[in-house]
Amino acid sequence: MKQVIVSGMRPTGKLHLGHYLGVIKNWVELQDKYECYFFAADWHALTTKYDKTEELRQNTLDVVMDWLACGINPEKSVIYVQSLVPEIAELNVYLGMITPQNWVERDPTLKDMAKILKTKEGQGQQINYGLMGYPVLMSADILMMNSDLVPVGSDQVAHIEITRDIARRFNNIYGEFFHEAKPLLNNCALICGLDGNKMGKSFKNDIKISDTEEETAKKIMTAITDRSRLRKDDLGHPDECEVAYKYWQIFGNENEISTVKCECEKGLRGCAQCKRELGAKINSVLAPIREKRKYYEQNQQEVEEIIRDGSLRARQKAQEVLSQVRKLIKMY
Ligand code: TRP
Repeated sequence: MKQVIVSGMRPTGKLHLGHYLGVIKNWVELQDKYECYFFAADWHALTTKYDKTEELRQNTLDVVMDWLACGINPEKSVIYVQSLVPEIAELNVYLGMITPQNWVERDPTLKDMAKILKTKEGQGQQINYGLMGYPVLMSADILMMNSDLVPVGSDQVAHIEITRDIARRFNNIYGEFFHEAKPLLNNCALICGLDGNKMGKSFKNDIKISDTEEETAKKIMTAITDRSRLRKDDLGHPDECEVAYKYWQIFGNENEISTVKCECEKGLRGCAQCKRELGAKINSVLAPIREKRKYYEQNQQEVEEIIRDGSLRARQKAQEVLSQVRKLIKMY
């Protein structure tokens, strides 16, 4: 019996290289070893964007197309949309009944989200009941498949701890049933944005999986390099190069990395030339992914079928779990 993995992403639009390298690449590798469930968390998107839903449908398709392009395989993994599995909402009700209010109030990730909402960027929005329920709904996602492992970034670990506490509490009250899901942290180095800060769509410093080669090459030319270097034959310091050399270390092979380092240190490689080559390198690594993405863009009905089929499979599993849960709670 394979262990079960669940993970999701809020459908906020087209994904960038941070998502690819930090999360999706890892999912792709897990597919062979585990029973995997990957879903677009559209209810979670509503916890803050309930009034901006015009793009929700397209964003959901975009996220799934990015996954497929990167190698998430619907023959190996179950790919679904959260709101197409209504069993999750029912489980959310039961879990909400046994979750003390202070558990959600002290969730640090939620506190951060709340802080952002209150600032200008969040337009001083208030915090709705649904947002307070974010960690409970996330627990429902995870426990719905009675999963063992949840591959996420470190910012999500607090949520998974709450999930574990809720599972324990359920087991204590109603009888041993849920596994205690553990976070599965990805040890790959985080890719920074073009400006050296965390890569993010809202910071406009990202490279999208779906960007064209020209867009990518142009963006790479804006990447920060060694700020102390003024002319191209000045001796460079790769270790102080804020972005370009870091990208080389992610995308280049050993030979390329040592050539870049050597030539930079000796002043034989200007930053502009270096970034031109870097852009070409990144484009060549992404070429097969982008080709696949284009295929799905041109065949969106195939993507919708994958989602429909995956959601049905997810529901089957969810219904099995839910019938056990209802029995344990002694529902009618
Ligand atoms: N909160 C996660 C994020 O923002 C998305 C998510 C929702 C999730 N439900 C989940 C991740 C369940 C893992 C498991 O990235």
